[in-house]
This record gives sequence, C-alpha cells and structure tokens, in this order.
Amino acid sequence: MITGYTRFVPLLAHPCRHVRTPPLFNAECERQGEDIVMVPLDVAPDRLRNTVESFRAIENVAGMVITIPHKGAVAALCDRLTGAAELVGTCNIVRREKDGSLTGGMFDGEGFVAGLLQRGHDPAGRRVLLVGAGGAAGGVAHALLGAGVASLTIANRSPEKAEALAGRLQGIFRDAQVEVGAPDPRCFDIVVNGTALGMHAGDALPVDIDRLDAGTVVAEVVMQPDVTPLLAQAEARGCVVHKGIHMIEQQVRLLVDFLK
Ligand SMILES: NC(=O)c1ccc[n+]([C@@H]2O[C@H](COP(=O)([O-])OP(=O)(O)OC[C@H]3O[C@@H](n4cnc5c(N)ncnc54)[C@H](OP(=O)(O)O)[C@@H]3O)[C@@H](O)[C@H]2O)c1
Repeated sequence: MITGYTRFVPLLAHPCRHVRTPPLFNAECERQGEDIVMVPLDVAPDRLRNTVESFRAIENVAGMVITIPHKGAVAALCDRLTGAAELVGTCNIVRREKDGSLTGGMFDGEGFVAGLLQRGHDPAGRRVLLVGAGGAAGGVAHALLGAGVASLTIANRSPEKAEALAGRLQGIFRDAQVEVGAPDPRCFDIVVNGTALGMHAGDALPVDIDRLDAGTVVAEVVMQPDVTPLLAQAEARGCVVHKGIHMIEQQVRLLVDFLK
C-alpha cells in the first residue's frame, strides 16, 4: 500500500525493460517492514544529470538504484562514494541524505560473493578468471579478493581497462595475486562472465567454450536471459553453472540496509 509516508527509490536504467531488481527489492522492503517502493525509470543518458539533480530536492526519495549504462555517470554526480564504489569509481546505489547530498555505494560484488556462498561455491583459495572490467566486474573483483581467492585473472576486450582495474586492486590487496590475461578458461576453478555479453541474441561467448574444463564453476553476472548461452553451453560440457540472478537475490538485503 502506497501512502503519504512511503519513500520512493527509482531504479535508473536505459533501457529498463530487462531489469529484474524491482520485485526482489520490493519484497525485501516488505520482509524488513520498510515502507519503501521501487519503480524502474528509463532515463536517456543526456537526461541523467537533470534527473539525478531533481531527486536531491524530493524529501521522500530514499535514494536511487543504478544500472547499465549509468553506474559511472551517477558516481560522478555523487557528493561522496563509500567502500567498493570509491575503489571502482562506479556506484549501483545512492543514498539521499537529509540535506539532499548524495552518497554512492556499490554492492554488486558483495552480492555476487554472497550468492556464490549461498550456493556452496566458496571462492576462498580458488583460482578465478573474471572476464570484464566494467562496473559490475570491478565490484566483483574487489569482493572476490576480499573473500580470499588464490588468484584473480582479469580479461577484458579493452585491455587498458583491465590493467587499470588490476592496478587499483593491487594497491588495496597488496599480497593478492592479480593478473591481466586472456579469456582462456582452462585451469581455473571459477570462471565469471562480468561483461554484458549474453544479454542480446547473437552476442559472442565471453570465453572459448571448448577450453572449459568439466567441473569448473561457471558464473554469470548477466541475469536476463535467466540462462545465458554461456551457462547453457557450459552445463552441456559438465560444468557447474551459477546464474546472474543469484547475485541480485543476495544483494537486495544489502541495498535496503544501505538506505536505512
Ligand atoms: N546480476 C546482477 O546483480 C547484476 C548486477 C550488475 C550488473 N549486472 C549485469 O552485468 C552486465 C555488465 O554491466 P556493467 O554495469 O558492468 O556494464 P559496463 O560497466 O558497461 O561494462 C560492460 C563490460 O562488458 C564488456 N563488453 C560489452 N560489450 C562487449 C562486447 N561486445 N565484447 C566484449 N566485451 C564487451 C565491456 O568491455 P569494454 O571495457 O571493452 O567496453 C565491459 O567489460 C550487464 O548485463 C548487467 O545487467 C548484473
């Protein structure tokens, strides 16, 4: 029931038809007894600044949840960034403070690792290949290193972004083994697609599927479609697959907590 007390959280996306967060987020608010409602808003990039600035003035906006392609642009509009958001320079949630200032946070990574743990795939001590170096991949990389992986290899279409991310991570996790490499999945325990590949029909696969070892855990950040071509083909090769939806299922609790 929406009343005059209800606080509003827009989900900023462009386009927004693929989003899956609102029903999970709204159910989590109900579970926690928080009178907050999320509605997805399709905001074109050239209207993003005005949209975000207008929310500063609205007293019952609790914050904003941010998805593709706005995570970097919204981070730049925040007054401050915390935790992984500060490291990767992108945010997937913004809290509107009482004075209208905006605090950005990033929980993609924590949600991803919580999803792995919840499904029995503890990444501690495992060799991980992460494909991608964008907003989601940066958060995932940060959280995987925080969870104590044995090694993290980052492969990205634009290698300079992988190098930059690896450098920032190494500055924080000084003893960790962080490398930039090719998207060759052989000899890894966990292979993660942290790119947008798989969202659209005809997308290339993020890794060379023929070089996937049976038994490898193959995990997605893409959650629409529910089973990406990567997951379908990996499963056919005898791999253990882990869907992108598990990342947001575990993350919604963290997002609601951040807005309190
Ligand atoms: N499950 C969840 O909870 C969750 C949470 C957040 C995001 N996601 C999903 O994660 C995906 C990525 O989102 P994002 O926010 O990280 O986007 P982003 O910041 O724009 O990063 C996109 C990444 O994908 C790569 N990429 C895009 N098109 C490619 C192509 N044709 N070939 C090779 N690489 C390509 C980019 O490589 P370059 O650096 O070379 O451009 C970059 O590494 C989206 O599908 C999003 O929906 C899921």
